[in-house]
Amino acid sequence: MRTIRSFAKTRTRLSANHKKIINQENDFLFSEKTKSAFEKILQVSENKALEIGFGEGDSLFEMAVNNPDTHFFGIEVYETGVARTCLKIEESGIKNLKIYLGDAVDLMLDKDIETKFDLLLFLFPDPWHKRKHNKRRLLSSSNLKKFRGYLSKKGFIFFRTDCQEYADSVKKICNDQKVEFQELEKSPLVNRLTHTKYQRKGIRAGRSISTFLFK
Ligand SMILES: C[S@@+](CC[C@H](N)C(=O)[O-])C[C@H]1O[C@@H](n2cnc3c(N)ncnc32)[C@H](O)[C@@H]1O
Repeated sequence: MRTIRSFAKTRTRLSANHKKIINQENDFLFSEKTKSAFEKILQVSENKALEIGFGEGDSLFEMAVNNPDTHFFGIEVYETGVARTCLKIEESGIKNLKIYLGDAVDLMLDKDIETKFDLLLFLFPDPWHKRKHNKRRLLSSSNLKKFRGYLSKKGFIFFRTDCQEYADSVKKICNDQKVEFQELEKSPLVNRLTHTKYQRKGIRAGRSISTFLFK
């Protein structure tokens, strides 16, 4: 059994509303118990984008609303963020956003799912600053290779971080894996994206944001 996790286990106390949406049956939330149903919908849809570790889910939800022709998926272990996002899906009635509550590494990297994405988003993944914790990074060398295996021919990985050292390590991994990457500092695409919680934190702390697009 794997013991190195890319997230910190936290105890969350869900509100009654959040508990209800997580436990009720619906067609937009999946978890370990309904894993095979989730794997099935991943296989049928085309024109797909997946955000891993979407946190509070604001930017994922907004992207789904603004791009109704794209099938969006989100994977997150943080129950409060999942519940918030599900409530928004329910209230808005949008049909192009499906959520998986669980570990993306367990779901996607321990075995292969037959699916390809046009876009894989990693927005401010946990930086795991201390050197001894670097191995917990979601975008490690071996994980990145496997995530890239999920890209369609025209697919890209979009990665943002406010941790310079994480940015440098991903650059190095890309160089080692002979992956071409583009640094998108102030492109209109980047400026149009809704700021995420961790992006706002980084900006408030005066850190610069690195943004990469690679295959
Ligand atoms: C630093 S937060 C960033 C959240 C959001 N993207 C933002 O920018 O505000 C990283 C998120 O990734 C999630 N996460 C980390 N590893 C994960 C994994 N293996 N599967 C699913 N979610 C994961 C954590 O639960 C956390 O919510």
